[in-house]
Amino acid sequence: MKPKTKILIIAGSDSSGGAGIQADIKTVTSLGGYAMTAVTAITAQNTTGVLSIVSIPPKEIENQILFTAKDIKPDAIKIGMLHSKEVIEKVLFSLNKIKNSKIVLDPVMVAKGGTKLINNPAISILKNKLMKKVFLITPNIPEAEVLVGKKITNLDEMILAAYTLIHLGANNVLLKGGHLKGNNVQDVLVNQKELHIFKNKKLSTHNTHGTGCTLSSAIATFLGCGKPLYKSCELGILYVNNAIRSNLTYGKGRGPINHLNSIELNKKFK
Ligand SMILES: Nc1ncnc2c1ncn2[C@@H]1O[C@H](COP(=O)(O)OP(=O)(O)OP(=O)(O)O)[C@@H](O)[C@H]1O
Ligand SMILES: [Mg+2]
Repeated sequence: MKPKTKILIIAGSDSSGGAGIQADIKTVTSLGGYAMTAVTAITAQNTTGVLSIVSIPPKEIENQILFTAKDIKPDAIKIGMLHSKEVIEKVLFSLNKIKNSKIVLDPVMVAKGGTKLINNPAISILKNKLMKKVFLITPNIPEAEVLVGKKITNLDEMILAAYTLIHLGANNVLLKGGHLKGNNVQDVLVNQKELHIFKNKKLSTHNTHGTGCTLSSAIATFLGCGKPLYKSCELGILYVNNAIRSNLTYGKGRGPINHLNSIELNKKFK
């Protein structure tokens, strides 16, 4: 089988394999794409939490992006954890050089266990520069709260926060609702012209480690295949939903989702 698209992933490593670059590679691969990587940091973690984080030097991140992309041109790019201002500056510099218009930014700031993964100067440059550069930003509720400086407790506040990010210069925003309580999960997609709400039944499991990384990689893969934004988000959300539904029960904490569920998706949507 020949890969349908080539995706460059710029993100941190999760040793437990449920989130981060490991989840990204599994997602791109199981959706039929070819995954390339630029590792930004190495975390030692398992399903119960993060033990330690080691940063990769910014110049080394730039090298991975530029040297990889000048040889095999990516169709789309997924960006995950960027922990410092210097790293974000290098990534911005590299993105300007490789000129790709299908960039999905998952602004990872806090791990599911609550560990803060990124410092304040990094948040500031992410909001003021990187967010404006990318095609789509996919914050979860706590990340959107940090970016807009307001609490988000319901769907109306999600919509308002998403529009605030558009006013601040984001091109497209998919605000993920996985952190809100209720029987349903709602993700809000907005840009200057459209507002869509994706509504799904909230699956009752604590094994949701890596849902956000997986979603942004799936969306990047569908965009890379040439699908439009709305369709890419719809399919990405469905892929994550199927992956949560499998309910793997690995580890003693918040376990991973099952990335090996794309066969059904392919059958249905090819
Ligand atoms: N229990 C659930 N049932 C169904 N869908 C869910 C559930 N939890 C999250 N999702 C979906 O998973 C996707 C990711 O949302 P979420 O808010 O969990 O992202 P995140 O917090 O960035 O995840 P991560 O832990 O990877 O950082 C969204 O499409 C959301 O609707
Ligand atoms: Mg996340």
